[in-house]
Amino acid sequence: MTATVPDSAAKLPEGVALRTFSGIQPSGVAHLGNDLGAIRNYVRLQDEYEAIYCIVDYHALTSTHDPQLLRTNTRDMAASLLALGLDPERCTLFVQSHRPEHTELAWLLATVTPVSWLERTPTYKEKRESQPDDINHGLLTYPVLQAADIVIYKASLVPVGKDQAAHLELSREIVRSFNNRYGETFPEPQAVFTDAPTVIGTDGVRKMSKSVGNTIEVLAAPDVIRKQVTSMVTDTQRILRTDPGRPEGCNVCQLQRFFGDDYEELWDGERTARTGCVDMKRLLAERIVAHYAPARERYLELMAHPERIDEILAAGAERVAPWAAETMAEVREKMGLR
Ligand code: TYM
Repeated sequence: MTATVPDSAAKLPEGVALRTFSGIQPSGVAHLGNDLGAIRNYVRLQDEYEAIYCIVDYHALTSTHDPQLLRTNTRDMAASLLALGLDPERCTLFVQSHRPEHTELAWLLATVTPVSWLERTPTYKEKRESQPDDINHGLLTYPVLQAADIVIYKASLVPVGKDQAAHLELSREIVRSFNNRYGETFPEPQAVFTDAPTVIGTDGVRKMSKSVGNTIEVLAAPDVIRKQVTSMVTDTQRILRTDPGRPEGCNVCQLQRFFGDDYEELWDGERTARTGCVDMKRLLAERIVAHYAPARERYLELMAHPERIDEILAAGAERVAPWAAETMAEVREKMGLR
């Protein structure tokens, strides 16, 4: 999978190791949007950079208020990431709340962040619509914590899906604001996208998202995946089986691009009505099932040994501790905290 690594990545201050950081919310097992849009790049970048990945349970608290569910989902997401290719020998994986320095830095960054920047964040506006009875302060300040996650490790590259682009832009603005006031401290983080920066959900309209309920859960049992793929909305203008299909307007056809080199042939079959939408869905479902079968096996094996997952997460939090401490000492000094 290709990705665009920005030029500015090379312009880091000397002596600062090139680090990549990303965070993912513990919202149950990973879906196809997470994997195609971000996790594939997490995996790729762990061979090229000092790679740090974090399960952001503090962020999840802005929407999840069930402690047991949060605990279960956090472990579940860790198992999913490890199963999908994160290797604790080549990257660091940890849980955000195990490094509470993130929240201290978020407070310090909040003091250089105008409220107006936060109020105009698209995700904040969306949450005001989707959870109108729970507009907690954490939702407003969410991007400041996200900036803290990244800059506490002075990471310069951030593999994310397109939906995080506005947050990344805000992180850069916060960095500029801090550096202007207190002197050059943090590199400006750059987003790194895959060639599937926005994966559309099974409804064929909205971004695939657990909260919308339009996901394909890549590590679920084969029958669950088949059912989710079968429910996908295809080309809405193709009414009869004999009508020519329009692969450009069909989410099933678009997803075929990631599960085989023969997608152009498949698209040709659609355009000439040699194949129908049901054929395409069956094929896609079987390819997704086959593609993720080894990962599902690793996931089940890990979930049968939760103590191994917990050990990896604890070791990860310990590994990043000195990096977080170093940044916090520098920041406290620069800001006049004693
Ligand atoms: P989250 O948990 O919503 O998603 C995790 C990653 O998956 C990507 N993604 C998608 N990409 C393409 N198509 C989709 N349909 C799709 N759905 C999800 C997301 O872009 C993301 O990269 N705010 C972040 C978590 C976070 C973070 C950070 C990210 C906290 N701190 C620091 C980067 C750096 C979030 O909620 O991601």
